[in-house]
Amino acid sequence: MRVLTGIQPSGKLHIGNYFGAIKKMVELQEEHELFAFVANYHALSGGANPKELPQNTIDIAIDYLALGIDPNKTTLWIQSHVKEVLELYWILSKYTPVGLLERAHSYKDKIAKGIAPSHALFSYPVLMAADILLFDAQLIPVGKDQIQHLEMTRDIAQKFNNDNGEIFILPQALVDENVATVPGIDGAKMSKSYNNTIEIFYETQKQLQKRCNKIITDSTPLGEPLEWEGNNVFALLKLFSTQEEIEELKKDYKSGQYGHGHFKKLLTQKMWNYFEKAREKRAYYQEHLDEVKEILNEGAKKARQIAQEKMKVVREAVGII
Ligand code: ADP
Ligand code: TRP
Repeated sequence: MRVLTGIQPSGKLHIGNYFGAIKKMVELQEEHELFAFVANYHALSGGANPKELPQNTIDIAIDYLALGIDPNKTTLWIQSHVKEVLELYWILSKYTPVGLLERAHSYKDKIAKGIAPSHALFSYPVLMAADILLFDAQLIPVGKDQIQHLEMTRDIAQKFNNDNGEIFILPQALVDENVATVPGIDGAKMSKSYNNTIEIFYETQKQLQKRCNKIITDSTPLGEPLEWEGNNVFALLKLFSTQEEIEELKKDYKSGQYGHGHFKKLLTQKMWNYFEKAREKRAYYQEHLDEVKEILNEGAKKARQIAQEKMKVVREAVGII
């Protein structure tokens, strides 16, 4: 199967990104044909800072590699290096009813948060559809928040196919129900735009501990049993624990022997260990930027080849010479 996903370079990667999308990709690359890209055109719609965007773009590519994306198995590239996507975006726009875009939750959420309601932000799902359909991707590992965008992609593809024949494959979202939405330190969905993230990479364990200490918990006094249900620290601990450990944790919560601080410390420790290899790999790639650029060039070349073939078919179907 062909699997594809993209991540916007709109800030530092957090554990929601990891458990929502990257971890699945790393697992899938063993058996499937994988495509992963850094969605830098998408980041423009959210108001990316032009001074920071180039570095953020490279950083996300490095993070992908550090977290286990293997360039020998996965095609990794920067979205803007394969321009065909913009042509397809325009062509697909013709098959996108305005009403469909008006129903997008993410658009409404973003303007509610004060992001300028530009046409780019509004038509973002069409660009995302182009990202996917251009590569005939079948499976798209994403967090729950992206399901609607996948439905829109299918709607657009269906409309196009109805008019022009079976040209696009209808993709499926792949959402891991266990980690569908990773909560942030305030209990809301962890998101770069909510300022509530725990990043994957901190310089020191102390910095990570400081962040984990900010996770909001109830005010049960020390010595009393704690509720694990609905507890943000527990929800995050689960991500780094085996089933057995989770059962133990539940008992520890109920025992009344431990306060929230204990669990925050445990979370820090587990997380720090979990990403140790990734930190080392990241340091390596930061020292070997030429290697990263080479990987991205190779990836773009491969992606471009597929994109160019697909666009020939698409152009012919819609009568563009
Ligand atoms: P953010 O909301 O932080 O800007 P993105 O929109 O760039 O994150 O998301 C990149 C990928 O990570 C998407 O597949 C998205 O569904 C996933 N993701 C982001 N936040 C979470 C979360 N809190 N829980 C699960 N998956 C998430
Ligand atoms: N819209 C996705 C997000 O904000 C990022 C993205 C862009 C994407 N294009 C994609 C994800 C194609 C999967 C497939 O998280």
